Amino acid sequence: MAYNIAVIGGDGIGPEVVDAAITVLDKLPVEFNYTYAEAGDECAEKTGVPLPDETIEIAKNADAVLFGAAGETAAAVIVRLRQELETFVNLRPVKSLQPEKYGNIDFMIVRENTEDLYIGEEEVTEDGAVAYKRITKNASEKIADYAFKYAQDTNRSKVTAVHKANVLKVTDGLFKDSFYKVAENYPEIETNDFYVDATAMYLITNPLDFEVIVTTNLYGDILSDEGAGLVGGLGMIPSANIGDENGLFEPVHGSAPDIAGQGIADPAATILSACMMLDYLGESEHARHIEEVLINVIQEGVHVTLDLGGEYSTKQMAEYIAEQL
Ligand code: NAI
Ligand code: MG
Repeated sequence: MAYNIAVIGGDGIGPEVVDAAITVLDKLPVEFNYTYAEAGDECAEKTGVPLPDETIEIAKNADAVLFGAAGETAAAVIVRLRQELETFVNLRPVKSLQPEKYGNIDFMIVRENTEDLYIGEEEVTEDGAVAYKRITKNASEKIADYAFKYAQDTNRSKVTAVHKANVLKVTDGLFKDSFYKVAENYPEIETNDFYVDATAMYLITNPLDFEVIVTTNLYGDILSDEGAGLVGGLGMIPSANIGDENGLFEPVHGSAPDIAGQGIADPAATILSACMMLDYLGESEHARHIEEVLINVIQEGVHVTLDLGGEYSTKQMAEYIAEQL
């Protein structure tokens, strides 16, 4: 059976890291049909829109979407795509692949992916501007339930809710209450909750205390970049956007204009995102195989990009991993 994959490279290092992931995928005894689609800053310059309807259609009709990064149009591209595809959860694993360097950090951020301040409803007022933060009971309970199910499926014993309900009593208060309501269905799983500001510190002082974090859209975005900083940088953190009908897989990082075009971006985050895509497609054996090879290559530290201590280009590192498969 062949899988239809929509490929959206986007801007900056996006196309570079997506090409690298495809180099690795192409080594598998699995057939993929790729349909390339445009989105991002360059697309907006060329066509007048950052996310053409045709791209949305291609993404919706594919078995899965592999996405690189957008630049300044990220809100109009990736945030909108998550909404269009109704991928209500964004899974962001923070896992140290170099335990001797970063310890055994291993937690999952389960980020609500459809609402919060990221609905992008802002307006100008007489004396400034206002942004709307939307939190619904339905989405909050759905994401909490996903986090508890994920904990169950992966033998994790604790789920931590992160919010700011002391200040945002109504919106984040609802998120927190929804979490504890859903928790009643999972009595065997330990629960706790922290304010987001304290969490930002605990992630640094006590990262091993975390197993599964469930949080709102904005806090999930911020804490996942912090998580990247704990385990070697943004070149290492993949993500999966999952809904009832669609899956979109992308590195957590952006278009990295500071290193774009130099061929030095770390492809690990995107290769690991492709592994999350393989899991979603039911090809987990291949996902574990690629991960194993990738981890070995990173731990050897030779055939890797600059950020990992090597001198390999993005393409060379991907080709080396593909050969090792
Ligand atoms: P960024 O994630 O692009 O880069 C942050 C830092 O991490 C930079 O120093 C960069 O060189 C480094 N970095 C990122 N990926 C790397 C990789 N694979 N290998 C080695 N180093 C890597 O975030 P930044 O600089 O805040 O934003 C740049 C652009 O990306 C902006 O236009 C922003 O809007 C967009 N963006 C898009 C996202 C998306 O499409 N999902 C997510 C985040 C930002
Ligand atoms: Mg981000």
